[in-house]
Order: sequence, then structure tokens, then C-alpha cells
Amino acid sequence: MLRLIQVGVGGFGRSWTDIVESSKFWKPVAYVDIDEKALREAAEAHKMPRERCFNDLESALAEVEADAALIVVPPNGHMEIA
Ligand SMILES: NC(=O)c1ccc[n+]([C@@H]2O[C@H](COP(=O)([O-])OP(=O)(O)OC[C@H]3O[C@@H](n4cnc5c(N)ncnc54)[C@H](O)[C@@H]3O)[C@@H](O)[C@H]2O)c1
Repeated sequence: MLRLIQVGVGGFGRSWTDIVESSKFWKPVAYVDIDEKALREAAEAHKMPRERCFNDLESALAEVEADAALIVVPPNGHMEIA
């Protein structure tokens, strides 16, 4: 299984947490969101441990090994995160 960090788990990101969880190829290893409520709700829904939830991608990358990041934030934030 390839390891995936998802950045943006609220809004449209909620569909992606479901899609990733049902994937045969990807395993979610961390969630990132600037919104604590979105982060908490996604973590609870998908049993992501609290220590694998972060407010920025740099912090996640410092703690968690991953093969890719899936970015589901508004378009004006995409480039900086990528
Ligand atoms: N294909 C479709 O049908 C479809 C539909 C809706 C949205 N989208 C796309 O999905 C993306 C997200 O749209 P949305 O409506 O879910 O946006 P949104 O404003 O609801 O944001 C999604 C999440 O990203 C988080 N976020 C914002 N900036 C962040 C940052 N810098 N770091 C971490 N998290 C951050 C927000 O807190 C939120 O939880 C956009 O690119 C949009 O174009 C596609």
C-alpha cells in the first residue's frame, strides 16, 4: 500500500477521505488542515490517530513517512502547498 498524506479534509476533502479509505492502493497516514474542527471530524470518522493530525504539511512531513500528498484545499492555496 502506498502511503498518503491528505491536506484539506473539510469541504470537498471529506469525499476524498472516503475515497482514499476505500482504495486498494492507498493508505491514509496523516491528515492536515488549518481548521481544527474539520481535522477532528475527519480523524474521528476515519480513526486517524490524533498524533497523525497536523495543521501544516511541513509538520506532517517531519513526523510521518509518506509516498505522496493529496491536496484538497481551495485553489489559491494549492501552489504553496505543492
Ligand atoms: N470536482 C469537484 O466536483 C469539486 C467540488 C468542490 C471542490 N472541488 C475542489 O476541491 C478543492 C477544495 O475545495 P473545497 O470547496 O473543499 O474548499 P474548502 O474551502 O471547503 O477547503 C477545504 C479544506 O481545506 C482546508 N484548508 C484551506 N487552506 C488550507 C491550508 N493552507 N492547509 C491545510 N488545509 C487548508 C480548509 O480548512 C477546509 O477544511 C478545490 O480545489 C476545489 O476546486 C472540486
